[in-house]
Amino acid sequence: MIAKLVAASLFIGVCGAISYRWPETGEPCVMIDFDSLNRLWWENTNRTIHKIGDWNFDNTTVINGGCNETAFLTIEWSVDNATYNWTFIQSDRGVDVQMALAFVPDRVFINQSASNETVVMSMTMRTTMGMNTSYRCDDTRRYKAMVSDATGRYFLAMHFRNVRMQAFGLQNGTYSTNVSRCEDVPAPNQHPKGTWRVTEDNKTCILLTAQIMLSLPYDKLGAQGKTMSQIGIQSPVVSGSCAQNSSFIQLSDSDSSLNITITFSQKDNKVNWETVEIRAALDDDRIFPDAANPFGTFSSVNNSMGTNLQTTVSGSYFCNSDTKFTLKEGATLELWTLQYAAFQGNISQFSKDGVNVCKADVKTNSIVPIAVGAALAGLVVIVLIAYLIGRRRNRKGYESV
Ligand SMILES: *[C@@H]1O[C@H](CO)[C@@H](O)[C@H](O)[C@H]1NC(C)=O
Ligand SMILES: *[C@@H]1O[C@H](CO)[C@@H](O)[C@H](O)[C@H]1NC(C)=O
Ligand SMILES: *[C@@H]1O[C@H](CO)[C@@H](O)[C@H](O)[C@H]1NC(C)=O
Ligand SMILES: *[C@@H]1O[C@H](CO)[C@@H](O)[C@H](O)[C@H]1NC(C)=O
Ligand SMILES: *[C@@H]1O[C@H](CO)[C@@H](O)[C@H](O)[C@H]1NC(C)=O
Ligand SMILES: *[C@@H]1O[C@H](CO)[C@@H](O)[C@H](O)[C@H]1NC(C)=O
Ligand SMILES: *[C@@H]1O[C@H](CO)[C@@H](O)[C@H](O)[C@H]1NC(C)=O
Ligand SMILES: *[C@@H]1O[C@H](CO)[C@@H](O)[C@H](O)[C@H]1NC(C)=O
Ligand SMILES: *[C@@H]1O[C@H](CO)[C@@H](O)[C@H](O)[C@H]1NC(C)=O
Ligand SMILES: *[C@@H]1O[C@H](CO)[C@@H](O)[C@H](O)[C@H]1NC(C)=O
Ligand SMILES: *[C@@H]1O[C@H](CO)[C@@H](O)[C@H](O)[C@H]1NC(C)=O
Ligand SMILES: *[C@@H]1O[C@H](CO)[C@@H](O)[C@H](O)[C@H]1NC(C)=O
Repeated sequence: MIAKLVAASLFIGVCGAISYRWPETGEPCVMIDFDSLNRLWWENTNRTIHKIGDWNFDNTTVINGGCNETAFLTIEWSVDNATYNWTFIQSDRGVDVQMALAFVPDRVFINQSASNETVVMSMTMRTTMGMNTSYRCDDTRRYKAMVSDATGRYFLAMHFRNVRMQAFGLQNGTYSTNVSRCEDVPAPNQHPKGTWRVTEDNKTCILLTAQIMLSLPYDKLGAQGKTMSQIGIQSPVVSGSCAQNSSFIQLSDSDSSLNITITFSQKDNKVNWETVEIRAALDDDRIFPDAANPFGTFSSVNNSMGTNLQTTVSGSYFCNSDTKFTLKEGATLELWTLQYAAFQGNISQFSKDGVNVCKADVKTNSIVPIAVGAALAGLVVIVLIAYLIGRRRNRKGYESV
């Protein structure tokens, strides 16, 4: 791993594609091909950060493997005897690939009085590849792990690209043509609309539908000024509370490294979208790729949303247009196709009455009739011209006979 300190290579361009087979001679039962670029950080108990940046899988040898019910392959770096393994585990959905890096800190962080206790950092690559199918992912996918021990915290961020893998059903050392591809990640502003509820005692008190995009500024390694990370929200874990005085909905990602918390208030039958708070762990490499300091939390809040998104208890607020809120720290929350209701006894769906439509929608709605009117007027003119031309032609025709 340390080798890459000396000759840091660029991920794009220098594609030293890595290729592993087990067994290495004869017909392989595990095959793995990829490009990668990785980082390992150690923050000691004095909060000093040591980095091993931009390393890959050069100078490694395959040291072990297996092809029984659980197939696996293990490699070792010659320079520091760190090991890495891929274990293929059949799940209900498909085959998950568990990956683990094991290293002795003192051999990796040379001359830093690091620990001699082996550190193991594991990650899971979830795939939907079935039995006898190969896995293929051309896009970059990020995997991260963090562990702490008596000597501090370790943070690992791995980037894999052009991945091909298969452990079951390989024939003659070739990947099955039956390929399972990684899913395309939609652009941040093209994540599908979600519908989320907060339910207590079988009663839904908050119903929210929206397409959500966050823009979060952060310090990126080697970049000047702030870098904007844009994230679309898809299939979040939903939690919240129906309490009369602090009703909120929280949208989180599966490992709780991102939380969006929206609180609602009610007074005199009026409902307000009161605050938005975003908290995100800087170690989440999918949100903050190459963060300059992955230890810590990004936090941003807007405590004064005012009456912009006001509605009534029995009604709902609706805005099809782009709604953008600026939060503290330069973060923004952008919503489309937004509709919410809160504090109703039990909301099964939005009621048709009492819908407060945002100003932007009212504008676009009045544009439509104007556009239709203009189009109709244009049509009348065209028909008239066509008629006149037709009449002239006809008359000419008549005259020439
Ligand atoms: C990696 O392997 C190459 C070729 O075997 C060798 O020239 C190079 O010195 C090795 N690098 C390290 C850091 O061991
Ligand atoms: C942390 O700081 C203390 C006092 O400054 C020092 O004695 C100790 O060796 C340091 N530990 C590490 C791991 O650097
Ligand atoms: C895997 O299977 C082989 C024979 O097919 C056997 O020799 C070996 O012991 C098995 N390994 C494990 C870990 O079960
Ligand atoms: C790595 O392991 C080999 C044999 O397993 C050993 O000879 C070598 O000293 C080890 N290297 C380090 C840096 O510990
Ligand atoms: C993979 O590596 C981890 C850490 O060294 C180890 O605990 C695990 O048993 C290994 N898995 C296999 C299948 O060898
Ligand atoms: C570690 O320290 C030794 C002795 O002080 C020095 O010779 C060596 O170059 C150092 N290694 C690194 C990687 O800094
Ligand atoms: C780790 O082991 C090396 C060599 O065995 C030794 O020089 C170093 O002091 C040890 N580090 C710690 C923190 O014990
Ligand atoms: C490809 O894999 C799928 C799912 O595992 C399976 O249903 C299908 O029959 C396979 N097709 C071929 C040609 O093997
Ligand atoms: C995978 O392929 C093997 C050998 O071709 C076959 O025996 C087995 O039934 C296949 N499994 C599935 C789930 O298709
Ligand atoms: C594997 O190779 C052998 C000999 O080269 C050939 O007879 C066999 O048909 C091949 N099988 C497949 C599935 O390609
Ligand atoms: C919620 O509904 C389920 C079934 O409809 C029922 O078993 C459960 O007791 C209800 N819970 C409460 C808190 O009312
Ligand atoms: C998100 O919320 C959960 C509990 O609701 C908490 O454990 C986690 O630390 C939060 N994440 C961040 C980044 O604050």
